[in-house]
Amino acid sequence: MSSTAPAATQRITLFYQDYVGKKVAMALSGVVLFGYVIIHMAGNLQIFAGREQLNAYAQALHANVPLLWIARIVLLLAVGIHFYTGISLAGASRAARPVRYQVKGQRHPNLAGRTMALSGLVLAAFIVFHILHLTTGTVQPAPFADLRPYDNMVNSFRVIPVAGFYVLSVCLLGLHLYHGAWSMFQSVGFNHPRYTPALRRFAAVFAFLLAIGFSVVPIAVLTGMVR
Ligand code: HEM
Repeated sequence: MSSTAPAATQRITLFYQDYVGKKVAMALSGVVLFGYVIIHMAGNLQIFAGREQLNAYAQALHANVPLLWIARIVLLLAVGIHFYTGISLAGASRAARPVRYQVKGQRHPNLAGRTMALSGLVLAAFIVFHILHLTTGTVQPAPFADLRPYDNMVNSFRVIPVAGFYVLSVCLLGLHLYHGAWSMFQSVGFNHPRYTPALRRFAAVFAFLLAIGFSVVPIAVLTGMVR
């Protein structure tokens, strides 16, 4: 057998151990997760097309079992890499700076940056709860119907604290994505007096639209628009 495969694995491992390698791992896994949330949001918005449409969409997604599990494994790997690398980067930056910054806000120029690690941890907890809630039905207080997301969402989001919790979580997701997209551009060294502010605005608008796109579903149920 050739030694090419172990050599490549070793190179990837060495690259990952490096700071730049970790930033690249963060960005690549972040892009996979970003793609997923956009597709997921678009899927959820089909609630406005009615019960039949949304439930049929979910059933079609679950019909191809091998593809479903490939997507789930890719997603799980991306979450694992993003989470583990994020923790190790946060630890490394803390260790490199044992004395705290004297001026608050100096390390990260904005609120999103300062709350990045915290928002990441809360989002991880949200995802665990969310899967137990709307995928497996384990923590669903109302009757749970397998592969009937329309009914499960309507039953859940009628309850104000549940709808409120989802809206808050997706606002946090918006904040996390805003800074994530922003710091990814910085990591790759993109800095231009003209385009940088435009990119920053673009990231803000995009994150805002994503938070709105997710929030409208619980809000529509809560206000009786979807029932
Ligand atoms: C208002 C916000 C959200 C709503 C209403 C919502 C709704 C749903 C529903 C109904 C399901 C079950 C689909 C099915 O089993 O057919 C689901 C699954 C899932 N959602 Fe969400 N979701 C929201 C936000 C999010 C966010 C922000 C994330 C990730 C950052 C996320 C990640 C997932 C994952 C990983 C699954 C499991 C997919 C699988 O079956 O493998 N969701 N969501």
